[in-house]
Amino acid sequence: MILRPATGGDVADVLALEREAFGVDAWSETAVREELTGPRRTAVVARAADGRLCGYAVTSVAGDVVDLQRVAVAPAHRRQGLARRLLREALPGGPTMLEVGAGNAAARALYAAEGFVEIAVRRRYYRDGSDAVVMRRDARP
Ligand SMILES: CC(C)(COP(=O)(O)OP(=O)(O)OC[C@H]1O[C@@H](n2cnc3c(N)ncnc32)[C@H](O)[C@@H]1OP(=O)(O)O)[C@@H](O)C(=O)NCCC(=O)NCCS
Repeated sequence: MILRPATGGDVADVLALEREAFGVDAWSETAVREELTGPRRTAVVARAADGRLCGYAVTSVAGDVVDLQRVAVAPAHRRQGLARRLLREALPGGPTMLEVGAGNAAARALYAAEGFVEIAVRRRYYRDGSDAVVMRRDARP
């Protein structure tokens, strides 16, 4: 598995995995391109030896806090520590925030395991009316 910074050449594969992982909440192609290559973003992709996209993570900077925008791993590669590796690669050691779907048990467990704590709930944050949990980490454990 190779982890490296994302480029414009990753847009099509990230878009496909984005749609698989997030359905109606998936970013558009334009949004994926902006998130992978835009300013104040850090995007990391993981590719298998055969070139297949296995996962990606995107962060953005807002002042002195980094926001985790996305982390996704292809279903066949889950529970092998890849999301953990992507987060460690994409996130700096300082203060970090994120929002996660209240019903997304896998992601909430991942973030808790990586040292994030729940600080707030945003009611009806998502398009389907579900809540978001806001999590924060002051520094990498
Ligand atoms: C959430 C997601 C990124 C996790 O990816 P992953 O590569 O399977 O995660 P890892 O293997 O690195 O897991 C690290 C830890 O997170 C927790 N975890 C991950 N998936 C879990 C699950 N399904 N159930 C419970 N705990 C889970 C565990 O503590 C795990 O450590 P362990 O395997 O030693 O028990 C993946 O399930 C995914 O892509 N989901 C769809 C997209 C999404 O919801 N992204 C998050 C919102 S942006």
